[in-house]
Amino acid sequence: MIMSLLFVVLFFVLMASVIVALLLFVTQSPSLATADPPANASRRLPDIIIIGVRKAGTRALIEMLSLHSDVAAAQSEVHFFDWDSHYRRGADWYVSQMPLARSGQLTVEKTPAYFTSARVPERIRRMNPDARLLLIVREPTERLLSDYTQVFHNRLEKRKRQQTLETLLMRDGELNLDYKALNRSLYHVHMRRWLDVFPRSRVHLVDGDALIRNPLPEMKKVEEFLHLEPQINSSNFYFNQTKGFFCLRERRRERCLHGSKGRKHPRVAPAILRKLHRFFHEPNREFFQLVGRTFDWK
Ligand code: A3P
Repeated sequence: MIMSLLFVVLFFVLMASVIVALLLFVTQSPSLATADPPANASRRLPDIIIIGVRKAGTRALIEMLSLHSDVAAAQSEVHFFDWDSHYRRGADWYVSQMPLARSGQLTVEKTPAYFTSARVPERIRRMNPDARLLLIVREPTERLLSDYTQVFHNRLEKRKRQQTLETLLMRDGELNLDYKALNRSLYHVHMRRWLDVFPRSRVHLVDGDALIRNPLPEMKKVEEFLHLEPQINSSNFYFNQTKGFFCLRERRRERCLHGSKGRKHPRVAPAILRKLHRFFHEPNREFFQLVGRTFDWK
């Protein structure tokens, strides 16, 4: 009797371990892009660079681009052109940070801080004047709130003192133009520097709000810009009700972006929101003029 009871308990423990292991495999599995590198693969300078904007959906963009079999993506942000300590290590170091890619594959890296760093455009041009640049933008106020939320969580992890959004955003009753999260949403200021160095045709703009609502049409435009064979299709995406975002599917493996993507934003007083929307109206118009297209921002 005791033996059979022991046997039943052991059986359930074993089954539970198998289920936990399977769950861990599904949820913790690395990017789909990291499937076995082919034997003839090598590391090369990137053909494509996602230059920003921070908190506009850069991770979603690179992960969705990796669904294409002709794309090999660097897993982490390289910060080669914006951090002098990395830049001084030279091109060989940069190449060593790239993923293995087989011949015919395009290599892509993303470092959102490139967009707002003044010295980066010229550095990229010098290394690869033919680089194709992807810039994802998002409604500037929403991006600012996402930026604040990101910093809030970083400080929480490091047990640093927190500041309310209002304290950072307002100074003497006016918007504080020195607040970094606000400055990063002034897209025209930063974009102008890129267009001083690269022709407009080298930069493809991705609509980050549209990518959240429905990723496929935005990804088809990216494929077209990169002259990739049309491959990404509706079966690559499914809406996850719990996450509230589209998740990715490739060869029946499904995964959502990390929990740090798609956070709740802080509640902001309506008066401050109105101030922000009013403030961004003119910079947005300048940005639209600069890039020759509009976005659905109020
Ligand atoms: P929030 O967390 O503020 O919602 P980045 O990767 O550049 O840091 O951008 C993060 C933002 O990507 C998230 O901001 C989220 O809104 C957006 N995003 C776009 N598509 C997403 C997706 N499929 N899953 C999760 N987040 C996505």
